[in-house]
Amino acid sequence: MRPRLYAALLLALLSPLATSQNQPAVPPAATPPMGWNSWNWFAEKVTDKDVRQAADLLVSSGMRDAGYVYVNIDDTWEGTRDAKGVLHANEKFPDMKALADYVHSKGLKLGIYSSPGLKTCARFEGSEGHEQQDADLYASWGIDFLKYDLCSLHKEMGVMAPGDKLKQNVIMRDAYMKMHLAIVKAGRPMVYSICQYGHDSSWEWAAEVGGNMWRTTADIDSTFFRIAQIGREQAGLAQYAGTGHWNDPDMLELGNGKLTADENRSHMGLWAMLAAPLAGNNLTQLSPNVLAVLTNREIIAIDQDRLGRQAERIYAKGPIEIWSRPLADGTVALAIFNFGEDESFLRGFSLHLAASGAANGWNARDVWAGKDLGPINDNYKFTLKRHASLIFTLSRGQAHN
Ligand code: GAL
Repeated sequence: MRPRLYAALLLALLSPLATSQNQPAVPPAATPPMGWNSWNWFAEKVTDKDVRQAADLLVSSGMRDAGYVYVNIDDTWEGTRDAKGVLHANEKFPDMKALADYVHSKGLKLGIYSSPGLKTCARFEGSEGHEQQDADLYASWGIDFLKYDLCSLHKEMGVMAPGDKLKQNVIMRDAYMKMHLAIVKAGRPMVYSICQYGHDSSWEWAAEVGGNMWRTTADIDSTFFRIAQIGREQAGLAQYAGTGHWNDPDMLELGNGKLTADENRSHMGLWAMLAAPLAGNNLTQLSPNVLAVLTNREIIAIDQDRLGRQAERIYAKGPIEIWSRPLADGTVALAIFNFGEDESFLRGFSLHLAASGAANGWNARDVWAGKDLGPINDNYKFTLKRHASLIFTLSRGQAHN
């Protein structure tokens, strides 16, 4: 069954429940969720104090006002279950409800992490067999976002259905659906973020099991090599994303490693073109360059465009690629990347304006430079340094209206 039809049926089935429990008319994640996530910087060391500090920094840096509102605690917050099966946070998180209240008092939202298996990837307690109990617990704390990471279920599927990939896939989907239904029943809207590394073409089924976003890839790291590799792998996935359900090429790495200014722009620009959820970076040492890139309003507007159409690749030759996406106001965003190790003089290169939905003579704006360039043609001349990129927004000129 097609994902949208399935989702519509599911919604119809659940709607009496949804209405009675104040589910919002607009689904969570109407645009790609933006915020912060603890994993890429703090990993297993994250504490209540770090999360409060992240909330404070989102506000003081201006990132909240640029749209970064989710403060997501990743793995390693989990403690043990009591005799009734109720999960308690471990000693690093003394009072989750108080933490949620603090985060909410800053105008932000709180996210949490679990697994459909018995154990999370860092071998903490998963939700298997306790889905409703956990969803109710999250709702009682005031949680707004759940990242649900396959982890130990992967092995368990192999044990439950040895050698039978199809059956394993059904077990996995059922497990994700179970938590989705538990969240709906718990009655508090939460963004449902499916983390399954893109196995079994997650983009084809994750929306069917209630996913608002789903990882399309194994973990990112802070090297430009890995960032470019993941970004380029997203070609062909645009058709699966849209309002309320997004491909997730994993979290941002700006400020986590040693990316150059060009690499920061290319990472952020590509993720914005991909309508990717934006979160993940280290906030404790925000350089002016990283902050400027993260909070560039025009780039964020591309990521958050209400049409919700992820970019598709329209040209690829060697290290040079062009990606484009239509925007709600009738303009087109066009991005040209040089993923190669050398400066490219782009001799004989064409911008491929027609393939992007624009045309010769449309007006171009250089988004990173914040500059209107006037009418542009396919033979526009420029060079791109190693790992650099350009993003244009293109609009029909007056004469063509
Ligand atoms: C991985 C996941 C990471 C992080 C980690 C926590 O499976 O891809 O993003 O959540 O688990 O243990």
